[in-house]
Amino acid sequence: MFVALEGGDGSGKTGALAHLGQALRDWPGGVLFTREPGGTEEGLAIRSLLLGRGEHDWDPWAELLLVAAARAQHVARVIRPALAAGGLVVSDRYVGSTLAYQGAGRGLDAAAIRMVHNHSTGDLWPDLTVVLDVDPELALARGMARLAAEASGEDRFESLGLEFQRRVRQSFLAQAAAAPQRHAVIDASCPIELVQAQVAAAVLGFLGRA
Ligand code: TYD
Repeated sequence: MFVALEGGDGSGKTGALAHLGQALRDWPGGVLFTREPGGTEEGLAIRSLLLGRGEHDWDPWAELLLVAAARAQHVARVIRPALAAGGLVVSDRYVGSTLAYQGAGRGLDAAAIRMVHNHSTGDLWPDLTVVLDVDPELALARGMARLAAEASGEDRFESLGLEFQRRVRQSFLAQAAAAPQRHAVIDASCPIELVQAQVAAAVLGFLGRA
């Protein structure tokens, strides 16, 4: 089983993942928690090229191909082997983020993104994608985006702007609406404990049914 967690910047994904780790600690066969961009040494090198503070001005296509390169390596070296061994994989972001950020955000054609994804990963899609949905204005007001940026040395939220984050949000909602059986949308404007409990319940519920 392959689960991805998605959401705009400052949606509380990091805390939800920590809580999910606790909820799944006794999962038989173990759980591999991983993240994108990243997930491998090569992917981390690409992550720092993409997300370092204000160093680069990537063309959207260059950005797409970099996230796709990191993902190809991640899928081939980490995700597929773990799935083949029967494990559960939970990824902090995956191709949903590419459709949202490079697609809706930066204006690249979704069909082209899907084609790149198809070829570079053997068309590997998550069994379940959990979307943390929150109005970007609220995310900004809560200051979680800023805190996350300070902690990581990355400043995506403010550099992308509110309009961009609104398009990202709409894309995640549209992706979920297009394939409801493979998505769970969680209202991330709720108190943090409730959001975390709902994420864990969505994942455990899906795994229980699968
Ligand atoms: P993330 O590590 O989730 O940061 P945070 O926890 O602060 O939200 O994500 C890093 C950034 O990378 C985020 O702004 C989204 C962006 N991103 C893309 O633009 N395309 C992608 O395909 C992925 C996986 C991430």
